[in-house]
Amino acid sequence: MNIKKQEAAAHLEVNGKKMDLDVLCGVENEVAMDGLQLRNQTGVINLDPGYGNTGSCVSSITFLNGEKGVIHHRGYELKDLAANCSFLEVAYLLMKGELPNPDQHRQWTELVRDNSYLGPSLQELLNHYPVKSHPMSVLASVVLSLTGFYGDLGHETYYQFDMDVVRLIAKTPLIAAHNFRRKRGMNYIYADPSLGYAENFLHSMFSKRLPKERRKIMATALEKLLIIHADHEQNCSTSTVRMISSSDANVYAAIGGGIGALWGPLHGGANEAVINMLEYIKMRDGDLEAVIKRAKDKDDPFKLMGFGHRVYKTYDPRAAIAKEVVDSLLKDLGVDEPLVDTAMELEKIALEDDYFVSRNLYPNVDFYTGIAYKAMGIPKEMFTVMFTMGRMAGWLAHLLEFREDENRRICRPRQIYAGKPIREYVKMEDR
Ligand code: SDX
Repeated sequence: MNIKKQEAAAHLEVNGKKMDLDVLCGVENEVAMDGLQLRNQTGVINLDPGYGNTGSCVSSITFLNGEKGVIHHRGYELKDLAANCSFLEVAYLLMKGELPNPDQHRQWTELVRDNSYLGPSLQELLNHYPVKSHPMSVLASVVLSLTGFYGDLGHETYYQFDMDVVRLIAKTPLIAAHNFRRKRGMNYIYADPSLGYAENFLHSMFSKRLPKERRKIMATALEKLLIIHADHEQNCSTSTVRMISSSDANVYAAIGGGIGALWGPLHGGANEAVINMLEYIKMRDGDLEAVIKRAKDKDDPFKLMGFGHRVYKTYDPRAAIAKEVVDSLLKDLGVDEPLVDTAMELEKIALEDDYFVSRNLYPNVDFYTGIAYKAMGIPKEMFTVMFTMGRMAGWLAHLLEFREDENRRICRPRQIYAGKPIREYVKMEDR
């Protein structure tokens, strides 16, 4: 990897022990101290709850500049990819490092197309989940169950792993769509090989109830939304996927864990929470001030959902793309969605309020996307499933990269102990 090393460029003295640390410099001039020998040489560890100051790996997939609001994948700016590519092209780029040429693109899309089905036993498994199950719980557990459908995954061969990557890209949308339909007593819809990735998902969800011209409009928007969700370097769920994979657990175990992490409302679950928040405001006759007041109240756990980010300290570039997608989708569908105005008013008030400005709290990727999904007729409980469909490409790209990482080792952080010192055992009768 093209990382520059400045030998012994950092100096540390702690408890009378001195050590020099190498400094690593990334392609975009990010700088890290190489802490590999820190504990061995000083007996000291670095404590960093939430890992805000800790790098877990060297990666070549995505770069974020949180101060400038820049994101690129393998060197291509996200806005260029969202404007020009299909989701499968971007998934290929993330995993392989280059945009596919026509032959590679044809092979890749055919491979995904040929695996875009759910066999009868997988459909049957889905049909037995309680109808009220949250779609993220169904998706996580079905993904984990795929180990039972695709052979013994004790220690995967390269071919097995690569095929599992294809299966997850191909089948995730179909698991989501069939779960939506079976909850409503509707039948499984077979994918249409003549349709693109996003359009096939909509076809599998709504079948002929969705007129073709509306489906095409929605598919154009959905491809862009899947692209802006595809990868975001070492976020919570991607780090979870890497951590699970570091124990040599199989790909479905790692992805199942990633889905669980993404589900949280502080992470991918925020898109569902944003719509709940906007509907709450609407229910209170547009009382935006009440929501802003609650978000600022330290005694109130309520947060302004869709706002703030660990890395972006300016407008999330993906939120800007999502807003453009929402505007053109609503116009092309002829949908008048009052929640857009509520969201824009909320954004305006927050961005003029010192509490948010002083903390660099701006709209993130989740602030507008739910409005687009709502306009497509996708139920709120599936919004984070939509995030999962996009992020699947990034998770798999990181798994493939981690598999080749020469510094790969099991992830096992240290801690500082704050419990009782060693003490004598006390018998039950003496307690
Ligand atoms: C995603 O990491 C990624 O890349 C994630 C993601 C991806 O693509 O994978 O981008 C996707 O998860 C986007 C984020 C979606 N989540 C939300 O919209 C939920 C609302 N946002 C917050 O919960 C929060 O902003 C986080 C979780 C996103 C970031 O949390 P941090 O980095 O731990 O920030 P923090 O909690 O330390 O906040 C710093 C200050 C605190 O106040 P003070 O203690 O300084 O007084 O800002 C406040 C926080 O209370 N704050 C908020 C707030 N977010 C932060 N106050 C009100 N509303 C908010 N949304």
